[in-house]
Amino acid sequence: MFGKKKPTPQIDKDQLELIENAQKRIKQKKRLYAHFVLFLIGAIFLIIANTVLGIGKDFKLFGIDWFVFAILIWLSLFIYHLFNVFVTHKFMGKAWEKEQLEKLVTKQQQRIDKLKSGFEKEEKLIAQSEVYNEKNTNSISTKSELTIIVAAAENNAIGLGNKLIWHLSDDLKRFKSLTNGHHIIMGRKTFESFPKPLPNRTHVVITRQKDYKAPDGVIIVHSLEDAIDASKSDSQPFIIGGGQIYKQAMAIADRIELTRVHHDFDADTYFPEVDTSVWKETANVFHKKDDAHDYEFSFLTYERK
Ligand SMILES: NC(=O)c1ccc[n+]([C@@H]2O[C@H](COP(=O)([O-])OP(=O)(O)OC[C@H]3O[C@@H](n4cnc5c(N)ncnc54)[C@H](OP(=O)(O)O)[C@@H]3O)[C@@H](O)[C@H]2O)c1
Repeated sequence: MFGKKKPTPQIDKDQLELIENAQKRIKQKKRLYAHFVLFLIGAIFLIIANTVLGIGKDFKLFGIDWFVFAILIWLSLFIYHLFNVFVTHKFMGKAWEKEQLEKLVTKQQQRIDKLKSGFEKEEKLIAQSEVYNEKNTNSISTKSELTIIVAAAENNAIGLGNKLIWHLSDDLKRFKSLTNGHHIIMGRKTFESFPKPLPNRTHVVITRQKDYKAPDGVIIVHSLEDAIDASKSDSQPFIIGGGQIYKQAMAIADRIELTRVHHDFDADTYFPEVDTSVWKETANVFHKKDDAHDYEFSFLTYERK
């Protein structure tokens, strides 16, 4: 467990081979050099032995002193050694160079392929993220949550004589807080049921009358589509009524904020039935009858399935 850690080689196989070859080559040349020095000393020794010390003075071959033959034989051995080192066993010869070059080229090709596939993967990711960003940007800029806000009785009654039927202060507070700062889209009749435009909201009024006059700041349009278009800068425009506009907006709204008043009323204007196969209830808060509220009611939120 606490034994010596094995040294991990920092160089690859080819580099190791190259180093080993270089070491072998140095050894070869060292040996050749030693042979040369030995040959020189040996030759001088043979000359001295024969001429100065008189060893084999009388031994001659073809009238030539023996040491000459001895030196010539040694010289040919040395030349053979020399030939071996520089010609026969030449390590880094042309073939070796070619082999190394091929290895290098193959290795570089492999690295290029690896880099290429890395780039391709990266390109794919960049492209995907660009598409994702584009989608997201589009959805932010074009997708807004069209919300219907309404107070309806158990029998779906919402108005009588162009007036609301009840007064529920908490419901009005909720209406104010939810719509504050937003576009409120309404039919001409609902607009005319207000004593004056509501503060801090952009009023978008739908009418077929081409010359309809309204106070400054009120946007007049002639269809529900144009009303939605006029509210496209708003992330949550509200459809605030009345009966005719609710009916048309049910098919395209994303959410309904419904105050269900738990009572039946006589009315001349009604809210469409909430089809639970289309709408999913996501919130339900009950409010009981009290001194400020004549009827029980519930704040319901529906989202399109
Ligand atoms: N309980 C609630 O939450 C609530 C909320 C809002 C309103 N209300 C009640 O609802 C009643 C009003 O509703 P309402 O149905 O009688 O009227 P409304 O929907 O408010 O307005 C109807 C008018 O809008 C215009 N219009 C409708 N559809 C159009 C279209 N496709 N293109 C162009 N213009 C179009 C027409 O104006 P022109 O006639 O000028 O052409 C039409 O007469 C009132 O009693 C009000 O108090 C209740």
